[in-house]
Amino acid sequence: MGKILLTGGTGFIGSHTAVKVIESGYDVVIADDLSNSDASVKGRIERITGKGVSFYQVDVADSAAMEEIFDAHEIDAVIHFAGYKAVGESVVRPLAYYRNNLDTALTLLETMQRHGCKSFIFSSSATVYSPANDVPFTEESEDLGCTNPYGWTKFMIEQILKDVCKADPEMSVVLLRYFNPIGAHASGLIGENPSGVPNNLMPYITQVAQGIRPHLNVFGDDYPTHDGTGVRDYIHVVDLAAGHVAALEYCTAHKGCEVFNLGTGQGYSVLDLVKTFERVNGVEIPYEITDRRAGDIAVSYADVSKAREVLGWKAEKGIEDMCRDAWRWQQSL
Ligand code: UFG
Repeated sequence: MGKILLTGGTGFIGSHTAVKVIESGYDVVIADDLSNSDASVKGRIERITGKGVSFYQVDVADSAAMEEIFDAHEIDAVIHFAGYKAVGESVVRPLAYYRNNLDTALTLLETMQRHGCKSFIFSSSATVYSPANDVPFTEESEDLGCTNPYGWTKFMIEQILKDVCKADPEMSVVLLRYFNPIGAHASGLIGENPSGVPNNLMPYITQVAQGIRPHLNVFGDDYPTHDGTGVRDYIHVVDLAAGHVAALEYCTAHKGCEVFNLGTGQGYSVLDLVKTFERVNGVEIPYEITDRRAGDIAVSYADVSKAREVLGWKAEKGIEDMCRDAWRWQQSL
């Protein structure tokens, strides 16, 4: 099969993908500086899969450290998750976001080039779609600008990768635009564990359910949606992880740069998610309606036909599974 390097492989999406990649027969090497994840995750991935993982606590922007990894392992493909990811923080600290996200990508690509590694899968985001586009967002939606520096870093790295592919016809790059990943592994051993006050909806809901926070703030109920609250395309993180395995298989058979949306194609509002969570888990989520959050858009969901047709992948799990698995994970913390 081959050996796959996952940068950011102990993070939320990275750890679930590590499990799927190992279960699909690949060997996994993880590079992660543990700045937003826990040292215990490596052992948890090994417990779930029954296989060993090579782990390096390094900054992916550290060229010498990355060189050592590529010297020690014959890496067949790289899945690049490492990076800063908080939209609001990126508005306050744009330089940190541009520096970190661009540096890590460039260092990684330069190291790959030196070692003749030609396959690259990139964690991009639906945030590259301007809200000026109609929903559902398709991979052909127009580039009409991003709404925050985090989004721009994704946009810029996509552009860098397109140019790298033009310059080297042997390169194989897949850009995966994630919609809203939530949920957790059914084992309850890995999941999302943000430090501090969660920025994202599901970790906030699970912390309210556990009594860590008194209530959820619902950011606006005057959007043009069925109940006035924002609509998103929530996707179970285990389905998202499977999308990476499909992308790996695609990478080995194709050259050039391709972009795919990874979502379910279905939109749910904030209150849809809250009500479903309450119903399937038998817990109450008190909430208060507050002002809109700056930079939020009303509706975001994916056209998922390209991933289905070209990668042969589609999301299998529904919103109820996402709510159950997220709650199981929160209770294990
Ligand atoms: N929301 C609340 N209260 C909260 C948190 C969120 O009402 O405490 C609402 C938001 O207003 C939005 C929805 O819940 O309507 C989802 O918000 P999230 O913060 O969970 O997710 P976003 O859609 O804002 O952002 C996510 C990722 C980004 C990514 C983007 C792509 O966090 O990294 O999807 O569309 F860029």
